Amino acid sequence: MKGQRVVLGVTGSIAAYRAADLTSLLVAAGVDVRVVMTEAATKIVAPITLQTLSRHPVAVDLWEENGNWEPGHIELADSADLLAVVPATANTIALFAHGMAPNLLTNIYLATRAKVFIAPAMNGKMLAHPATQANLRILENRGHLLHETAEGMLACGYEGKGKLAPVESIFERMKSLLGSD
Ligand SMILES: Cc1cc2nc3c(=O)[nH]c(=O)nc-3n(C[C@H](O)[C@H](O)[C@H](O)COP(=O)(O)O)c2cc1C
Repeated sequence: MKGQRVVLGVTGSIAAYRAADLTSLLVAAGVDVRVVMTEAATKIVAPITLQTLSRHPVAVDLWEENGNWEPGHIELADSADLLAVVPATANTIALFAHGMAPNLLTNIYLATRAKVFIAPAMNGKMLAHPATQANLRILENRGHLLHETAEGMLACGYEGKGKLAPVESIFERMKSLLGSD
């Protein structure tokens, strides 16, 4: 996985802070991590945290000028070896499933031909909703890799499925996708 580029999408789940540990694990393994956050994610974890840990600026705004002629989302989409969305909200999963692109991350999703890995995290009822389940099946049938959620006490106070899986298990799965060297 050394030297490979992961575009790490972080969305507005309460579990967004756990992307910090994942970023550290990836960077320690020599991965080039480029973090892309949704606006909602920036309300839960400060971009400066992920910027410092990834050692690169964090991208949030689709319209931000990057000094290049090429739009930032195309550069990130083309250069990614893996697009990983950790954690993935019900909203972003729905946007991916239906090809809608209102923000930077969803534009990258449509523009990339890299492998796509998605680790959902949400309230158990949101996860069990037929709309979310249908959207997850669409992504699975499209060939994307979905990571199972974990069971336990959710941040919303409910017990059950929907927790972001342990970061170590997500890291191991990404390692197998990227190759362990
Ligand atoms: C405190 C808080 C925690 C949230 N946690 C989650 C979550 O774990 N999973 C989820 O799907 N949505 C969660 N939401 C709702 C999303 O933030 C909301 O649907 C948002 O529009 C997602 O935008 P994004 O997909 O662009 O990040 C949470 C909202 C709040 C206020």
